[in-house]
Amino acid sequence: MQYIMSLDLGTTGNRAIIFDRAGQIVGLAYKELTQYYPKPGWVEHDAMEIWEAIRWAMGAAIQDAGITAQDVAAIGLTVQRETCLLWDKTTGQPLHNAIVWQDRRTAGLCHQLEAYRSEIYERSGLFLDAYFSATKLMWLLDQVGDVNLDNVLGGTIDSWAIWQLTGGKVHATDHSNASRTMLMNLKEQDWDPELLKIFNLPQQILPEIKPSQGIFGQLDPDLLGVEIPIAATFGDQQSALFAHGCDQPGLLKCTYGTGCFLVSHMGGEIVRSQNHLLSTVAWTTAQAGGDYQLGYALEGSMFTAGACIQWLRDGLNIIDTAADSEPLAQQVEDNGGVYFVPALSGLGAPHWDMSARGAFLGLTRGASKAHMVRAVLEAIANQAREVVQAVNEDSGTPIKELKVDGGACQNDFLMQYQADVLGIPVERPAILDATAQGAAFAAGLAVGYWDSYTDLVKGRKIDRVFEPSARATQAQDSFATWQKAVERAKHWVE
Ligand code: G3P
Repeated sequence: MQYIMSLDLGTTGNRAIIFDRAGQIVGLAYKELTQYYPKPGWVEHDAMEIWEAIRWAMGAAIQDAGITAQDVAAIGLTVQRETCLLWDKTTGQPLHNAIVWQDRRTAGLCHQLEAYRSEIYERSGLFLDAYFSATKLMWLLDQVGDVNLDNVLGGTIDSWAIWQLTGGKVHATDHSNASRTMLMNLKEQDWDPELLKIFNLPQQILPEIKPSQGIFGQLDPDLLGVEIPIAATFGDQQSALFAHGCDQPGLLKCTYGTGCFLVSHMGGEIVRSQNHLLSTVAWTTAQAGGDYQLGYALEGSMFTAGACIQWLRDGLNIIDTAADSEPLAQQVEDNGGVYFVPALSGLGAPHWDMSARGAFLGLTRGASKAHMVRAVLEAIANQAREVVQAVNEDSGTPIKELKVDGGACQNDFLMQYQADVLGIPVERPAILDATAQGAAFAAGLAVGYWDSYTDLVKGRKIDRVFEPSARATQAQDSFATWQKAVERAKHWVE
């Protein structure tokens, strides 16, 4: 009996999951990742901690499944996107902490590059914003100073993991991750010399861009005692899109992780949004003869979703566990006039305001902890409603149902409120780890472990469909007030 291992390297934690031939999870290991906030608006990760967690999780998941490494037919890798680092290729040590996608330290650099905004969008499909890797890599190179570039490698978390997993043999990334760096030309699907010039970045440190679904290299046998092909690499949002079976125009999903990301497959042509959504790569699939098949996507990236709940737990200590937010929110009839703007890392789609900051508005002496927690959950759903509206306006065909995944989807209050504020059903799958599932599906298909993508997608079980309730009108009215609160929180730290 053989299995597929998925490595899901997320913002808040790293996990390895073992899937069997029926697509079921048979083993899992997870470790939360330390978040460093050295200054307001800065977020860093220790890349060595990520690598140690991968090493530990691979062994622990295999043990949890009661199998051996020889039983693993392939590895699929999926990662938090945009987060990037530089490392020394001789020592294998990072030159600085990785700068996380949520980090706003390069907002000023973006302002300096304002003259290139439309050229950057034209070439990369992305809006000039500190979210993407390009200005983060600029900052890192400046920070490390006078280094011999021949000895430096750089890239997103996938390329760091691939380099480590292959024992330093392969420096590669995939199209879905590369499309988030702001350095890849969306039409050509390769590093863009003009973008590299704008950001003053040397191509020599960057990884080779390869198809998302295809062989990246072999696991270093020193790690688990056996070579295993790394047969897929995806950005985590694109991986979830793959898991949901969204492989053609009109199909979309929304993942509630650290942030919340609504992604819609757009087929083989680049589609440009009129409503502030990003044009990006869905994924690419290797074909015989070195060619590949390509799909594009439109994306609405909302920076703070599960991260607000984590902040209620770890920052404010007003809940003990993320799960506590659900009964607390349900304790009160409504939000009591309290609104939350989840701009803890600025605002992404559809506002793209790096200088916005989080806010509670409408507080009175009667506001309770329950009202505040409820306001946070409502805000997560309200953000998604704004992006669904943008997708509807772009496509002209209204979305009839929202497919969701991600940890925060366990929260029934949030899902019900989402259905209410959207006025459409919300479909929650039984396996919420769609990011890990997508990379596993892709890797298993790439090595012939599975042969039908359609059957895999059909085999996924639905846990529950949340239909809009009698409270839908109230939620939709409240959405309008929330939008006013968002306007107040904009342009805060000019
Ligand atoms: O673009 C950032 C995104 O990839 C992070 O995903 O799952 O860690 O919220 P997640």
